[in-house]
Amino acid sequence: MSYARITGTGSYLPEKVLTNHDLEQMVETNDQWIRERTGIEKRHIAADDQTTCDLAEQAARRALEAAGRSPDDIDLIIVATTTPDRVFPSTACLVQQRLDIHGCAAFDIQAVCTGFVYALGVADKFIRTGAAKCALVIGAETLSRIIDWTDRSTCVLFGDGAGAVILEASEEPGILSTHLHADGNYESLLTVNVGVSSNFDALVRGEAYIHMKGNEVFRMAVNTLGRIVDETLEANHMTQADVDWLIPHQANIRIINATARKLNMPPERVVVTVDQHGNTSAASVPMALDVAVRDGRIQRGETLLMEAFGGGFTWGSALLKF
Ligand code: COA
Repeated sequence: MSYARITGTGSYLPEKVLTNHDLEQMVETNDQWIRERTGIEKRHIAADDQTTCDLAEQAARRALEAAGRSPDDIDLIIVATTTPDRVFPSTACLVQQRLDIHGCAAFDIQAVCTGFVYALGVADKFIRTGAAKCALVIGAETLSRIIDWTDRSTCVLFGDGAGAVILEASEEPGILSTHLHADGNYESLLTVNVGVSSNFDALVRGEAYIHMKGNEVFRMAVNTLGRIVDETLEANHMTQADVDWLIPHQANIRIINATARKLNMPPERVVVTVDQHGNTSAASVPMALDVAVRDGRIQRGETLLMEAFGGGFTWGSALLKF
């Protein structure tokens, strides 16, 4: 049986950095509150003329280089994003054009912070069924565009960035399982409640902002991520001890620590980038993966557990041999 295996990773962060001290000048907040309640120290913000596709393209080029592949090898492109460049074409099609790739399937996935895990799950199924051999899977966001910079309860949390992987058919184990879930009953707890077919006027006025009931989202995230960890291990007849690295969605250090405790994972086995990146939604998991691969922590053959939770609500996991 053919597996889908990650053969290269890449990421890109825009140059501009926004620190907690910078935010102190913008809203009534302070560095200590942000660090203690979220773990975030700084986040990167896209330049005015930089789009999600621009960030995605850079991450994709780095992943291609790491995999030793050229754009010609790619036969599937999936971009997970909540902040696409346009209503259409999809950001995946725009990335395809940038990379001078022609003809292969290219589409976006919208599952907010769980987007990359969803994209990985879909690409895995393409590869296992023989419909693709070499997929480019990207998580990319310019969340700074949908933040109300006067709302201290949300503006301190988010950042921009992109991460990418090349996923190839292989006889060697790669992705062991993905588990994807959603429950739309919770749509109102975390939302940008404007779009093309509803509240379009607000969108035109530039009032498309993230609204979140932080406390309730926090509680749901901790409980749900604990459950998905159990579900994933059970499905693979594994125990916590079989997992070498936890690569969680980077929303809040307290959520990450709660999941790590549930897994009995020592902190040095958990990849944390929330302090440096903030919450970059669909980009957070692939960026964290790339950081830990490039600094030499994650080695070939190790077992990685990725998990994420986000608006919808959506949640999911991917267990894989790297
Ligand atoms: N600076 C200073 N004080 C702030 C603040 C800020 N940036 N934001 C909120 N506060 C204040 C609140 O007004 C509140 O004050 P009050 O007690 O006088 O009313 C107090 O801090 C506590 O607010 P609360 O919202 O209860 O804090 P919290 O401990 O729940 O932390 C979050 C807030 C947003 C950090 C936390 O709820 C969270 O991380 N939620 C989940 C986020 C998440 O995962 N989202 C995405 C899912 S992908």
